Amino acid sequence: MINKAKGTYDVLPTESHKWASLEEKAREILTLFGYKEIRTPIFEYSEVFHRVNEQSDMVTKETYDFFDKGERQLTLRPEGTAGVIRSFVENKLYVENNLNKLFYIGPNFRYERPQKGRFRQFMQFGVEAIGSNDPALDAEVIGLAYFFIKKLGLKGVKVRINSLGDQDSRVAFKAALTAHFTPHKETLCEDCKNRLDKNPLRILDCKIDQKHPAVLSAPTPQDHLNDFSRDYFQAVLDYLDSAHITYEIASKLVRGLDYYTHTVFEIEADIEGFGAQNVLGGGGRYQSLVKELGGPDLPGIGFAFGMERLLLAMEAEEISFVDQHQPDIFILAIDKPARELAVKLLFEAREQNLVADMDYTGTNFKSQFKAALKSNSKYVIIIGEAELSNKVVSIKNTETQEQEQVPVKIAIRTIKNWLGK
Ligand code: HAM
Repeated sequence: MINKAKGTYDVLPTESHKWASLEEKAREILTLFGYKEIRTPIFEYSEVFHRVNEQSDMVTKETYDFFDKGERQLTLRPEGTAGVIRSFVENKLYVENNLNKLFYIGPNFRYERPQKGRFRQFMQFGVEAIGSNDPALDAEVIGLAYFFIKKLGLKGVKVRINSLGDQDSRVAFKAALTAHFTPHKETLCEDCKNRLDKNPLRILDCKIDQKHPAVLSAPTPQDHLNDFSRDYFQAVLDYLDSAHITYEIASKLVRGLDYYTHTVFEIEADIEGFGAQNVLGGGGRYQSLVKELGGPDLPGIGFAFGMERLLLAMEAEEISFVDQHQPDIFILAIDKPARELAVKLLFEAREQNLVADMDYTGTNFKSQFKAALKSNSKYVIIIGEAELSNKVVSIKNTETQEQEQVPVKIAIRTIKNWLGK
């Protein structure tokens, strides 16, 4: 037996309806907000991810990089944003619309230490709204994430928000961090010593040094916002208030990716027993990503939810998706002539959009009967010798246990009527 690769999981038939429902819900709500789906490749040229996030753990340690047979350097996507922006630029989507509201659903790959809620292949659904500097758009994107978790019925969830400010504010903040951490350099982990020179912001989300006293007492981005950035942040908060979106200001929040400016936010599960991986989703604004990937100088904002974590949160709050796919009909047939009629009726039923099946493994009536019970169908059609010779079928309602004989010719139509379809 060969096992699944470390950090991956199978979605088995008993679980797959949850995934289908979650995706359906996501599509429904994203469409309500005017977002259109974009599907980009699972692998990209490595520079798509490496150019824009050089110092993040995600890119320095966690990407699956490989050369193909043509010696091209490729990377399995660790997130959706960079690939979507690459596609946005390559396909010049900005020519048609001033603002592009895009969404995506798909797998991503990060070489992380697997644990509950953290995998090496995981699913995200996310959005990117590209082309506007309006703080009302920040509120819309955050509001969309908030609206979605409400619609799922999750209660113990909160929105945490902060601002990193514009480029100038970020430069001032970085300088303050360098000054703050330099006297502690020798006590920081090896990676953080390196980060201090290259991008001190990344020290703040180091998994090793997260409890280091110098990290705990570090300056926050809020202390270094210039007037423009402070006003921008205030405007975002005002819009959130007008939309009745509750949030918490998280002055230490910086997020783990390098492309963010201004607004950053996370959606956190405050659910008992949920575990350490309690960030269900996160995102923020990016001012220069489009330009860095060769496009025009356009800003964007987006977020992504981890779908495994959403399902775990729903499980923790005992919210279930109903598996609505109860079959309509299961057919039992005694011998070959009866099975010929069964095959005919099956196709007739499907033609009428009824979910219908029969048993292809059992040889005798008893095992077919077991299969019928297991299928949990609403009606069972029985074709025995007597039925065949009388050109009728017996139809049993599995809920009421009532059974009656109906002429073959109108059997499917009759069930369709009973089902009200
Ligand atoms: P991120 O915070 O790296 O942001 O990932 C977003 C969400 O994906 C996380 O909150 C988490 O729920 C889920 N996630 C991340 N890594 C894993 C993993 N190894 N296993 C399971 N779930 C995981 C981004 O990816 C940005 N692209 C979001 C964004 C969009 N920012 C702007 N636009």
